[in-house]
Amino acid sequence: MSQEARSKFIFLMIVVMFLIIFLGAYITKASAAGKGNAEAGKKIYDARCGLCHGAAGKGDGPAGASTNPKAADFTDKAKMNKSDDELFKLISDGVKGTAMMGFASSLSEQERQDVIAYIRTFSKK
Ligand code: HEC
Repeated sequence: MSQEARSKFIFLMIVVMFLIIFLGAYITKASAAGKGNAEAGKKIYDARCGLCHGAAGKGDGPAGASTNPKAADFTDKAKMNKSDDELFKLISDGVKGTAMMGFASSLSEQERQDVIAYIRTFSKK
């Protein structure tokens, strides 16, 4: 290989390496978004949501059945026919005029994603 061909080859390899690193980071980030961990979400749910939404997600928790409107039933497939983004917004901001408060300041973004992954399990059974 001539000196010039060799430096072109090295330059090309550096470009390829950067592409691999960049793409790898991008893919990891893309798959992390919207992908909560249901197991971690269960702990958060039981501590923060079950009181109203019920241990099985039916909206019949000790404090949820008596609120007006009642706490949402997560086993209702039609109700759960929302994107992760929509659920994220509801959980973050709450629903004005109802007992559903926003959790934007008390749960981290990851915790809210985790809890979404968990409440989706109720309508899959
Ligand atoms: C103090 C009671 C209470 C607690 C605690 C509570 N919620 Fe709610 N939630 C409600 C009520 C009541 C509604 C129904 C609001 C409505 O019908 O518009 C609701 C609605 C929702 C909705 C919207 C459902 C839909 O499709 O419209 C989501 C999502 C939700 N809650 C998630 C959660 C999560 C996750 C937690 C825990 C981090 C939580 N809630 C904690 C009372 C509660």
